[in-house]
Amino acid sequence: MTAARAFCQDVYALGASVSLGPFELDEAASLGAAFVAIDPWQRLGFEAERLQRFFASQDPSAARFAIRRDGQMAGFVCVNPTWLCGPYLHFLGVLPQFQGNGIGSAIVAWFVAEAQRAGDRNAWVCVSHFNSGARALYEANGFVQAATLQDLMQNGAAEILLRKVLFVQGNAAQPSEK
Ligand SMILES: CC(C)(COP(=O)(O)OP(=O)(O)OC[C@H]1O[C@@H](n2cnc3c(N)ncnc32)[C@H](O)[C@@H]1OP(=O)(O)O)[C@@H](O)C(=O)NCCC(=O)NCCS
Repeated sequence: MTAARAFCQDVYALGASVSLGPFELDEAASLGAAFVAIDPWQRLGFEAERLQRFFASQDPSAARFAIRRDGQMAGFVCVNPTWLCGPYLHFLGVLPQFQGNGIGSAIVAWFVAEAQRAGDRNAWVCVSHFNSGARALYEANGFVQAATLQDLMQNGAAEILLRKVLFVQGNAAQPSEK
């Protein structure tokens, strides 16, 4: 049986009011400015131009979406679908005025569900050591620390690599090797 391809739709509806979909270049510019003003990017010293370039870049190997709530820009998510026997959640940011309303939880649930739909064995995400809010979100969704990556983004700042195991542990026959 061939596994379904994950993260390949142009648009995803996550419940009644939250959707993932395409975005305009001017929206990428405003996202860059908004996200450098908050942690973790502020604390890591990102410049707006760097994030704007990231949002605006065309990377055919990545799945990149604006997050909208009731049609309004609420954040950005980027997934690398085939990272390490499963996808990597490269970027997740919910704009401050939209935080605390379940959008982050909905995105993480979507990320895991897409990986499972494709028969992936793992789902991955990285979180800065000081980002206790995001870490709580991932851990509540079954992600567990896999490694500490010292000085990855900045000297003195560790990134924590978290993994969610999607296969039945101990059963070597479970899904595909990717
Ligand atoms: C982390 C983030 C994506 C969560 O999105 P959100 O829409 O606010 O999340 P939710 O409303 O679904 O909250 C889910 C859980 O996240 C955790 N959480 C989120 N923000 C938190 C904070 N500031 N402090 C503590 N816990 C927090 C809580 O466990 C929360 O569950 P609870 O409401 O039952 O306590 C969002 O706050 C964000 O974009 N933050 C800035 C960027 C960032 O840290 N991105 C992740 C990089 S790895």
